[in-house]
Amino acid sequence: MRQYIIAGNWKMNKTVSESVALAEGIVEATKDIKKTEVVIAPTYLAAAKVADVIKGSNVKLAVQDVHWKDQGAFTGKVSVDMVKEIGAEYIIIGHSEQRQYFHETEETVNLKVKKTLEAGLKPIICIGETLDERNGGKLETVLSTQVKGAFQDVSAEDAAKCVLAYEPVWAIGTGVVATDEQAEDTQKYVRSVVAEIYGEAIANGMRIQYGGSMKPDNAQGLLAQANIDGGLIGGAALKPDTFFAIIKAAEEAL
Ligand code: PGA
Repeated sequence: MRQYIIAGNWKMNKTVSESVALAEGIVEATKDIKKTEVVIAPTYLAAAKVADVIKGSNVKLAVQDVHWKDQGAFTGKVSVDMVKEIGAEYIIIGHSEQRQYFHETEETVNLKVKKTLEAGLKPIICIGETLDERNGGKLETVLSTQVKGAFQDVSAEDAAKCVLAYEPVWAIGTGVVATDEQAEDTQKYVRSVVAEIYGEAIANGMRIQYGGSMKPDNAQGLLAQANIDGGLIGGAALKPDTFFAIIKAAEEAL
């Protein structure tokens, strides 16, 4: 049985003080959560303060990206050691906004995945197709390229520590959610690609989140699907009550 993982991707939202307040609200709301893994990803700027707020709680820390070099002249970037020192466990890698706006490629995703694993942290690897790619019959090619690219030269043992997040680009921040069936069919396919690389055991153990306009009113249906093991939540993660409602749906789906 795969443990559900609900992760809040705060993107470029919330000042440091607002982040602290949101984290406090989430810690309070989730204090009785037992079965679901809860993760929040504030901005780099707020991450260290948020780490202090969630210490000893049911909430774990992620950051939204990382650079693959150890240190040096890379203005604006943050290394895995910096992320590790403040107590983050997860790093979101390859989000479609990174791919779309900040030149993320299959190669940089792979470099970041390997560096994250080398540091003993866990990648949440985002994949997903655009509407044109889906309508043009390229869904499977795009996803299999992204999955195989991310896992290039990653051992099975390391792959087992990764989480995948299937996020159809057309559903992110748009309010248009994939139907339960669309998400399930696609995630089943994604799992089959993982099986092709690493075999059934690793594929069956790997958690695959759905992301893209997941909200309290659609979470239950999505999380009931056999191949949906959680959510990567943007908009609905910015308020304790909506985020908690999704966590509760996961808790009840088990
Ligand atoms: P959304 O974002 O829930 O606001 O659609 C999801 C994501 O981009 O991770």
